[in-house]
Amino acid sequence: MDHTEEFLVFGATGQQGGAVARALKAKGKKVRAFVRNPESTKSKALAAEGISLAIGDLFDPASIDRAMVRISGVFSVQTSSPAGEISDAQEVVQGKAIADSAVRQGVRHLIYSSGGAAGKGPTGMGHFDSKSEIEAYVQSLPMISTITRPASFMEMMLLPGMGLPQGEFTFFMRPDQSMQMIALIDLGRINAEILMAPDRYAGKIIELASASVTGKDLERAFTKAAGRPIAYKRFSEELLANNAFLNRLAELLDSGLLAGRADLSALDKVFGHLTSLEEWLGGAGKPLFEAALNREGTEVALR
Ligand SMILES: NC(=O)c1ccc[n+]([C@@H]2O[C@H](COP(=O)([O-])OP(=O)(O)OC[C@H]3O[C@@H](n4cnc5c(N)ncnc54)[C@H](OP(=O)(O)O)[C@@H]3O)[C@@H](O)[C@H]2O)c1
Repeated sequence: MDHTEEFLVFGATGQQGGAVARALKAKGKKVRAFVRNPESTKSKALAAEGISLAIGDLFDPASIDRAMVRISGVFSVQTSSPAGEISDAQEVVQGKAIADSAVRQGVRHLIYSSGGAAGKGPTGMGHFDSKSEIEAYVQSLPMISTITRPASFMEMMLLPGMGLPQGEFTFFMRPDQSMQMIALIDLGRINAEILMAPDRYAGKIIELASASVTGKDLERAFTKAAGRPIAYKRFSEELLANNAFLNRLAELLDSGLLAGRADLSALDKVFGHLTSLEEWLGGAGKPLFEAALNREGTEVALR
């Protein structure tokens, strides 16, 4: 392996990119993070961990080109419309801009981090269909690429408004319905492994998840972790009727599309032990879970 090999990670001040950048760093790799603001607390934390910063903006292709110089592998992720900053069309522009720049700069390999609902036909959700479009574009380019499709993040369950302070937890699945989820720590290390073995994963599309979880599993695990009863309920019909976004997600779960198609035993064999819900609650998820239990407020902030 080339000892000068360096990886460029987009979204490194965010959830996915942060996990990937840190996993690469933990494996002794040189990592460059593409950041908008080098003075932000999160950028400074990356720099303090020995990750170099390339300053730019996804709307500025020249800044992406500058960041790509002498890079061998890229982790590409974009925000999506539910986060409120960009439209679905802009997500596509950004995803394509990274891929185009990687080709221009002769980067050897790129991972495009998509989503579990992508690549399976139109979904009626703009931020899923945008990912299908970026996937197809990336695959059409003259460059080695891998598409990873992460399931819903376990971390997302602990956003405000799911009822934990009131001793309940409301989410998408019915009590006996399962949905795959991924712990960000697994997302980080699996994508890092893929970046480190580009030939092995060239041209592959890999659905990523850590565990398959039902509503009852959540009730059991959350009750144990909280040390007091946490009752599980699916989002109420009333909430779903008044929230088209959540309603469509629930429909996609019912139709099987959002339930997840990752082959958990194959992932475990290839990438090593996957984090179970209980392990996550006792590890990386513990501070988040405790904060969510003690948080005020009930507004649903899912995205
Ligand atoms: N939530 C889930 O369960 C789930 C599951 C599968 C897939 N996804 C997908 O994951 C993606 C979001 O990933 P995430 O949660 O890791 O994101 P995140 O935590 O919201 O972080 C977004 C990152 O993108 C950076 N960024 C935003 N706009 C930028 C721009 N114009 N130029 C350069 N950098 C920019 C942000 O940098 P700053 O620090 O400068 O803001 C930040 O580092 C979405 O596409 C979503 O659909 C989510």
